[in-house]
Amino acid sequence: MRAVTVDESTVVLGIETSCDETAASIVMGGSDVLSSVVATSIEQHVPFGGVVPEIASRAHVELIVPVIARAIEEAGIADTRIDAIAATFGPGLIGALLVGVSAAKALALVWDVPFVGVNHLEAHLYAGLLEDPDLEFPLVVLLVSGGHTMLVEMSGPGRYRLLGETIDDAAGEAFDKVARFLGLGYPGGPAIDREAAFGDPEAIAFPRAIPDSLDFSFSGVKTSVINHVRKHPDVSTADVAASFQTAIVDSLVAKARRAARQVGAKGLALGGGVAANSLLRDRWVEACDEDGIRAFVPSRAMCTDNAAMIAAAGWHRLGSDGPTSLEAGAYPGLRLSMD
Ligand code: KG4
Ligand code: ZN
Repeated sequence: MRAVTVDESTVVLGIETSCDETAASIVMGGSDVLSSVVATSIEQHVPFGGVVPEIASRAHVELIVPVIARAIEEAGIADTRIDAIAATFGPGLIGALLVGVSAAKALALVWDVPFVGVNHLEAHLYAGLLEDPDLEFPLVVLLVSGGHTMLVEMSGPGRYRLLGETIDDAAGEAFDKVARFLGLGYPGGPAIDREAAFGDPEAIAFPRAIPDSLDFSFSGVKTSVINHVRKHPDVSTADVAASFQTAIVDSLVAKARRAARQVGAKGLALGGGVAANSLLRDRWVEACDEDGIRAFVPSRAMCTDNAAMIAAAGWHRLGSDGPTSLEAGAYPGLRLSMD
């Protein structure tokens, strides 16, 4: 194994296959994104109203080689310039993860460069910061995706403390379930975001179930949407979408502000697919302005699953922990390791 000094010129190939996106990216120095290619099998899952693991794995097998080849081509580098290969090794769907991990290990062997296993959740934390390397810690990061809703204190690269998380549904899961109930299709987050633009956010006062801690709860609001629509079948779908979205965003922003005050954070960062939500993005910036702290709001492409965040997290991990053993597997239930 060739030893690697991690610095501003270190080039990492990142690979992401934890769910339904097959992605590859070339990142130099942990933050200079030379290419980021994302292919998705989402269209194949739409008729089933959710990701079908077997279909996702098969799509990854078909897409992985062309996606990696395109990432290298778009970066305009020779493959001999790649110093390390980082791939998501958890959490995610086991069959899907194995495709990316196996490809990464095979290339690491062929090119004789280190392999780095990356925690997908840690990568989402980096994505919030990738486009704004001018950082001051401590930061509070809200990680909101289809599977997770967490408030994390980041006191430095790779140094985390969990401040709060959902006690039931993840925020993205609530968006997806409500959208499905409203007949808006899958994935639900973007569908509700679009529909909400035509509705009145104050039309229906859905509950903001806020446990008295930094934890979240979204199953109550989901149930009240269902009860409300059953009781008022003629209600405007746009009003329901707008009111539901506002209820979710209200509790996300309120808890994040409270967390920031509690730890004396210099800024609030967003990460994960739900961070693509228009209302959340607007309210995030307003809240930070009011509280006199910095708002880190990544581009939408950086919020949803991509491989640039994997390469960035891999660069940091390579520097702090060195390469991952090729004996390592894929870990569907991997958690974020905390301080
Ligand atoms: O991070 P991500 O791409 O995959 C996971 O790791 O889960 O997040 C996907 C989630 C889905 O639940 C999707 O509905 C939600 O992010 N999402 C949104 C928006 N775009 C994606 N939720 C609300 N508003 C959006 N614009
Ligand atoms: Zn994700």
